[in-house]
Amino acid sequence: MGKSVLLIIGGGISAYKCLELIRQFSARGIKTRCITTKAAEQFVTPLSVAALSGEKVFSDLFSLTDETEMGHIELSRSTDLVVVAPATADLMAKMAHGLANDLASTALLATDKPVLAAPAMNVRMWHHAATQRNVARLKADGIHFVGPNDGDMACGEFGLGRMAEPAEIVAAVEAMLSPQTKPLAGKKVFITAGPTQEAIDPVRYISNHSSGKQGFALAEAAVQMGAEVTLISGPVSLATPMGVKRVDITTADEMLVACEKTKNVDLAIFCAAVADWKVANQAQQKLKKNDKSAAPDLKFTANPDILKIIGGLKQTRPKVVVGFAAETENVIENANAKLKNKGCDLIIANDVSNGVFGSDKNLVHLISAKGVETWPQLSKAEVARRILEACAKLLK
Ligand code: C5P
Repeated sequence: MGKSVLLIIGGGISAYKCLELIRQFSARGIKTRCITTKAAEQFVTPLSVAALSGEKVFSDLFSLTDETEMGHIELSRSTDLVVVAPATADLMAKMAHGLANDLASTALLATDKPVLAAPAMNVRMWHHAATQRNVARLKADGIHFVGPNDGDMACGEFGLGRMAEPAEIVAAVEAMLSPQTKPLAGKKVFITAGPTQEAIDPVRYISNHSSGKQGFALAEAAVQMGAEVTLISGPVSLATPMGVKRVDITTADEMLVACEKTKNVDLAIFCAAVADWKVANQAQQKLKKNDKSAAPDLKFTANPDILKIIGGLKQTRPKVVVGFAAETENVIENANAKLKNKGCDLIIANDVSNGVFGSDKNLVHLISAKGVETWPQLSKAEVARRILEACAKLLK
């Protein structure tokens, strides 16, 4: 391949995985030059990093010898890609705020190359509002992410925060290094995502567990493939992917209006978990509970089936229409029925009986008139990429 990576090793227990990462890079012909933070040296020795990479390891911003051999600006630019692994909470905070007080953070600020971060930290640190703010900022700045994964942690806790495995990092690097094909260049795409909320009264609503992650992953991947993307999203707490036009809505009725307003669409993907019903007798004031009154007598009415409406359009129908079918039983049969009923070209069916909501992984079947294709469990980002590749083929 003849490519090179600058690997910035942060100070976390998962730094040990970097030794294997360097080995896997070199097995694929990717040259690795490394920077270690001071904290990283508590976990891996510069000697082992140098032995595996076959290159001098850099760590000191103020080393005259290092600067004469390879200045820090040169170090950050004479590479195809920068990988930060483990991207600790501290390193990401520095990156998000543009701090440059050691060689690692200075190189990250000076680089003009794509950056891939593989976060690793304790689950609570990952979920902390400050870290999530920093991640959102970094994503908006165009930093790519791989992981974190969930599972047992070195600190004895369980959850999100394990660094992605070396093989996953290598796959992400290879995807970033391979010449980008833009199969959706010039195509106009809209994607619905997240839940809708249907008011009961001014303070209460009916909704569902959709996190919006799959829809947002689709929007991000579609932009990377060259599309002009409008993301019509219900209430979610996710950062808008770079380059995406986002339209926020609350109810199914508002989502329909936003979809209808988006004209000349090549591809429409309906990933949102739209509430099937809204409350017909919505109260104008907060419903009161008192000892005598029974539970409120809520009446429901069906929401518009947005997918069916758009899929059934005559002149203005998007060229390709994709629906999702979240099922808890008879996944394939139910999805097949939806393909026809709703006028879709493709249906992405998944079993949501086992914790897909909010997860970073998804296990789906791609259903078209040609039949069913079942994919293994993949990250939502990879599911998004594959769905869009299938759509690009249909658009050809
Ligand atoms: O009928 P069901 O809700 O299972 O269909 C799911 C598919 O239809 C998803 O693609 C969803 O985004 C879309 N949908 C919609 N409007 C609705 C209900 C579902 O666009 N009111």
